[in-house]
Amino acid sequence: MKNQQRKKILVTGGAGFLGSHLCERLLQAGHEVICVDNFFTGSKDNLLSFIDHPYFEVIRHDICEPLDVEVDQIYNFACPASPVHYQFDPVKTTKTNVHGAINMLDLATRLKGRILQASTSEVYGDPHVHPQNEAYWGNVNPIGFRSCYDEGKRCAETLFFDYHRQYKTTIKLARIFNTYGPRMHPNDGRVVSNFIVQALLNQPITIYGEGLQTRSFCYVDDLLEGIVGLMESEDGFTGPVNLGNPVEFKIAELAELVLELTGSSSELVYRPLPSDDPKQRKPDISLAQEKLSWSPKTQLKEGLMKTIAYFDVVLRENNYSGARQG
Ligand SMILES: NC(=O)c1ccc[n+]([C@@H]2O[C@H](COP(=O)([O-])OP(=O)(O)OC[C@H]3O[C@@H](n4cnc5c(N)ncnc54)[C@H](O)[C@@H]3O)[C@@H](O)[C@H]2O)c1
Repeated sequence: MKNQQRKKILVTGGAGFLGSHLCERLLQAGHEVICVDNFFTGSKDNLLSFIDHPYFEVIRHDICEPLDVEVDQIYNFACPASPVHYQFDPVKTTKTNVHGAINMLDLATRLKGRILQASTSEVYGDPHVHPQNEAYWGNVNPIGFRSCYDEGKRCAETLFFDYHRQYKTTIKLARIFNTYGPRMHPNDGRVVSNFIVQALLNQPITIYGEGLQTRSFCYVDDLLEGIVGLMESEDGFTGPVNLGNPVEFKIAELAELVLELTGSSSELVYRPLPSDDPKQRKPDISLAQEKLSWSPKTQLKEGLMKTIAYFDVVLRENNYSGARQG
């Protein structure tokens, strides 16, 4: 890549699941990448395959504090994403979403650069509209256990649009639906990683409710193609834009598929549904198709096989008893 095409790009939360894949992808495209992370849920292990890249830098920093670096683009991904992690210190989660967004928006505004926010389908809450399109305002509990994340992300969206209207900041807003792939945390309580780890360890697979609630699962490579496409999209296009896989699966179907692909002897066990757990979630991705020519390509089976292969190695390296033999 020629020097004038090479951009300096900041990825907050760059040591996390999505952030680390994003850093890697941007380096592969020839850019210079600064990863900022406080390592709350992120890990240096996620960075090992490219940590020595000459155009890669890591800064240990909490985005609740202001940051001053010179970059062309900011991807704001810092925030714990799984309920076990974001509910560990809910006040901190809100601060990361709100103070973090303000600090990153201030930086982008000063630099006259672009900033993309990793928002979430959780802004739709337990939706009354199905599938959800970007015009739907959501049905969110403001005082529940998930509110620090859901309302924090909603407030961040408000801030993005207010900076855009008030200071002309160039913003891009992605509403990310359930994404899975290698480098997810083995014990973060998310359904794909939970099922895979339980299956590989031949432990009972826990299904909440009757397993009839549906989810859509997007493979990480597909998602990041949409994310980078959004960042590079025409100046006037801000989003919000849904990015996710619209193919719906029942949770019970996912469990059966994981059992089949791992060859596990795990049994299925049923537990009560946690409060505020949405019953169904499915993105309407017409806007992403129209504006970004984007739609996910990876079949669930193919993505699961890559994710299972990753967890198989991680579990063996960490000597989890019961990991697959041979
Ligand atoms: N994975 C998904 O399915 C999904 C869905 C919707 C939205 N998102 C959003 O995408 C982003 C990344 O999610 P993920 O799945 O990679 O989660 P993750 O927990 O793996 O990554 C989050 C990263 O942010 C870092 N971080 C947290 N608080 C920070 C702070 N105050 N300062 C600096 N770094 C901080 C963590 O250490 C971690 O490396 C999050 O903003 C999340 O809300 C993810």
